Amino acid sequence: MTSPDITAPDLDERADALPSRPGAEWWRTAVIYQIYPRSFADSSGDGVGDLPGVTDHLDDLVELGVDALWLSPFQRSPQKDAGYDVTDYCDVDPLFGTLADFDDLLAAAHSRRIRIIVDLVPNHSSDQHVWFRAALDAGPGSRERARYLFRDGKGEHGELPPNNWESVFGGPAWTRVIEADGTPGQWFLHLFDSTQPDFDWSNEDVREEFRRVLRFWLDRGVDGFRVDVAHGLVKDAALPDYIPPADADSMGGDEAHVPYWGQDGVHDVYRDWHRLLDEYSGDRALCAEAWLPTIARTALWVRPDEMHQAFNFAYLLTGWDAAALRAIIAESLRTYAGVGAPSTWVLSNHDVVRHASRLALTAENPQGHGIGPGSPGKPIADVGLRRARAATTVMLALPGSAYLYQGEELGLPEVVDLPDAARQDPTWFRTQGERYGRDGCRVPLPWSADAPGYGFSPTGDSWLPQPEQWRSFARDVQVDDPGSTLSLYRALLSARRAHELGAGTLEWMTGFPAGVLAFRNGNVTVIANISDAAIAIPRGTVIATSGPIVGDELPVDTAVWLEDARA
Ligand code: NOJ
Repeated sequence: MTSPDITAPDLDERADALPSRPGAEWWRTAVIYQIYPRSFADSSGDGVGDLPGVTDHLDDLVELGVDALWLSPFQRSPQKDAGYDVTDYCDVDPLFGTLADFDDLLAAAHSRRIRIIVDLVPNHSSDQHVWFRAALDAGPGSRERARYLFRDGKGEHGELPPNNWESVFGGPAWTRVIEADGTPGQWFLHLFDSTQPDFDWSNEDVREEFRRVLRFWLDRGVDGFRVDVAHGLVKDAALPDYIPPADADSMGGDEAHVPYWGQDGVHDVYRDWHRLLDEYSGDRALCAEAWLPTIARTALWVRPDEMHQAFNFAYLLTGWDAAALRAIIAESLRTYAGVGAPSTWVLSNHDVVRHASRLALTAENPQGHGIGPGSPGKPIADVGLRRARAATTVMLALPGSAYLYQGEELGLPEVVDLPDAARQDPTWFRTQGERYGRDGCRVPLPWSADAPGYGFSPTGDSWLPQPEQWRSFARDVQVDDPGSTLSLYRALLSARRAHELGAGTLEWMTGFPAGVLAFRNGNVTVIANISDAAIAIPRGTVIATSGPIVGDELPVDTAVWLEDARA
């Protein structure tokens, strides 16, 4: 294991050490590892991961070779949507530790030259947030209600919701409240669960409160924010009826005009936040979680005075197909460069079917979205892992910034056979089990094959059951195996840094059979065989390969990095 340089005084030196152009901002090229705290590592033994658990494993992340961590929500929350329902934006939920634990983690990460971005959830709060409780008490027409989207209902007695919007998690997007006099009263909007009321972003109290929240974490030293539902804050003021197409991914809202996604006014919020971040030293960054129908639309979120990055979900949703991948990569690089932003790349996160399963799904759920229609299907395990390793080998060679989701470095598949009684995603409950939701990609990590709970928790407890197959994926089984997925990730990340691929330029290569994706980034040649037969590859020094090379042939579903390749 690499021993961390804990004498490094601050991040400015780190910036010099990063494989990017002198003076370039770190987030343009960084590999950012997503920590889903409740499933990463549990230090307390209650079966839920926590912040000290992350601190305990920082050296493993240094050894993996990532530049930054994104922490999914750990703020105070009743956990109705795994922390995306916040009651106090400026405190740590006792489930995950204390503010002191957060400060310790941040300091320990910075001393190892790892940056930290935190999740910010500005579209909605928890229904237990003090503002929402006050809004219920204060009644219609009050300043307290004006911070959320309360409206009178339609119908003779207001018994019908104000419009026909559906929640992303299924069911209606409006819930009626009981007023102080005990009678049914107004309705409030919640694009997600009924425990997640949407703020009204035309309200100055809301804008000011989130400036305070940003400053709170920036003052503590965080390096940026991943902004939840960044396309959803502002709604069409008329709240018009809208029915998405039956096959639309509700998070994606595939349509060009959706009255609750991508409204023009949302950009003012991010310009304001950009100015606020600029008041702080160092490069602090905002990353948009914005499911929008096109890359061109998404690029509006990263114009020079707005956010710094946006997740490239178009790339994530692209199938295992050479022509489609080439098209989306080219479009991403061109479109984001057009607004001066880096493209990002991502294959897995806590909302989608893990790519080691998604890339080999049966036809049941072609998009593989955990909260989309259909079940996660029945992936073909070996094919899925082989393709996932090849897909990551392609992704980590691309210029820009890449996101990894905890556990993908172990090759973890989606857990598709969780018992119904164990499921926790609100999607499962709001659709009466019609949609499985996202629990299958959130199962706690296996660290040690032979420890209770595979080393996730000292007691062996785990908030979602870990399958028996976790034993073979455990980190300690992989760490010294040169053929393991963990070793592949380490090799790719180390070579990506050494060859400065994040800051590089992509040049497509021709002359390969159909179904082959081939490009150069500097002196690294990347070839992925997505055809149905082995292909001959050029001679050159193999830097990394996602699977065995047979003679001078690259087998199907395999990708390789070659240095100084020649015909
Ligand atoms: C997107 C988050 O990634 C997801 O986990 C959450 O359920 C919704 N936003 C609502 O906050």
